[in-house]
Amino acid sequence: MPFIHGRQSNMKHPPSCTKKQLIHMRSIPGAPPCPPFTAVVRCSFSVRAVGIKARRPPRTDQIRSGLSSAFMNGLILIEKVLIFFVTKSADERNPPDTMLVLGIESSCDETAAAVVENGRRILSDVIASQVAVHEPYGGVVPELASRKHVETILPVIDQALREAGITASGLDAVAVTRGPGLIGALLVGLSAAKAMAYALNKPLIAVNHLEGHMQAAFIEGEEMDRPCVCLVVSGGHTALYRVEPDGSSSLLGSTRDDAAGEAFDKVAKLLNLGYPGGAVIDALSAKGDPGAHAFPRAFMDSDSLEFSFSGIKTAVAHFVRRFGPPSSSEIYRIEDLVASFQEAIVDVLVSKTIKAANRCKLRDIAVVGGVAANRRLRQRLSEEAARLQLNIHLPSMRFCTDNAVMIAAAAYFNWKRSGFCPDLFELDALSRWF
Ligand code: KG4
Ligand code: ZN
Repeated sequence: MPFIHGRQSNMKHPPSCTKKQLIHMRSIPGAPPCPPFTAVVRCSFSVRAVGIKARRPPRTDQIRSGLSSAFMNGLILIEKVLIFFVTKSADERNPPDTMLVLGIESSCDETAAAVVENGRRILSDVIASQVAVHEPYGGVVPELASRKHVETILPVIDQALREAGITASGLDAVAVTRGPGLIGALLVGLSAAKAMAYALNKPLIAVNHLEGHMQAAFIEGEEMDRPCVCLVVSGGHTALYRVEPDGSSSLLGSTRDDAAGEAFDKVAKLLNLGYPGGAVIDALSAKGDPGAHAFPRAFMDSDSLEFSFSGIKTAVAHFVRRFGPPSSSEIYRIEDLVASFQEAIVDVLVSKTIKAANRCKLRDIAVVGGVAANRRLRQRLSEEAARLQLNIHLPSMRFCTDNAVMIAAAAYFNWKRSGFCPDLFELDALSRWF
């Protein structure tokens, strides 16, 4: 069967999965139990089914992750129902000249779908954000994220197809984030994608979420025909890669503890600024003095391309313990505190990225992921690039945070590079993907 996958990717990733601030369901007082999954599945290619029971037991990684079996059965049900209604088997297909890909992303707290032609022409881009769901807890609650994905995945896919002005049968392939991320969240997108690919007899392309972020810098701008250094800086990851023009990459260094976005979110929570914290701190910092307080910059003077952000978070906590919470303090301004914290993070990110470019003797730098939306980081990178005559590639703001356009774009390059997957149903979600 001509299913494509991403197993040949030679990416090396840090041993971290999504490390965004995660809140356990058990720690939420009065949290509702997971409801039994009675399924009424409706999707755009007219498959209807009501209440068919799936018997396959949950897999061990699912049990370990604490997902309820009812929820897992629900996912298996989506697969089974679609398979049940489809009798056609896949035949060998010639790769088309134009590749119309439906991208699906559900690795954390956004449910997203997009249709993209040849990795660059965006026909639709739909994102259902879960911020309102997780905001009261100050971080992502994995079980709530999974449930919300189940609710929104099919409407989001439907809308992406509608906005692109095509039907599902007009697609050339279905692409989906396979990992890294929250296992329950990933499984929702993967199950929907597998079912669609099977039902429509289309190839399935499995995409590494970080490869997706890397492609985000090249969707609208210049196409990359030379290697570059890429800083992936998000709520789950902070890592430097050397990326080749075909999209393959090798790891240069990563964080030993917290991701930069995670530090933004934790400090925002500590200061009662709301969730997600990065954008709030970014906005408040514009009115503050970045030199007001000195916070630690880990490994700044060493040759290492590794990062560490847990120390700076602790330093802010000590500061608040010593001088009191911002609301009652007359000793310092909250704007100065967050601007100084942000400056320490930005200093490290900029200096390590330039160091990596020098070490690899490359003049092109891409900075991607949610934290790449940070205005101070973008400003400092642009200044350094002008000073050192480097080419800097930044995604537009909407493609910094999680989206499905980047998944469809990465899938196109993955498809060009990778072979066919012999068995679509072998494909499993990977909470860690090295
Ligand atoms: O890429 P993303 O949507 O999800 C992951 O793959 O992790 O990144 C989300 C992260 C959050 O930690 C959020 O606080 C951070 O990106 N973020 C920002 C800004 N906008 C989002 N951090 C700093 N400044 C921003 N403007
Ligand atoms: Zn992401």
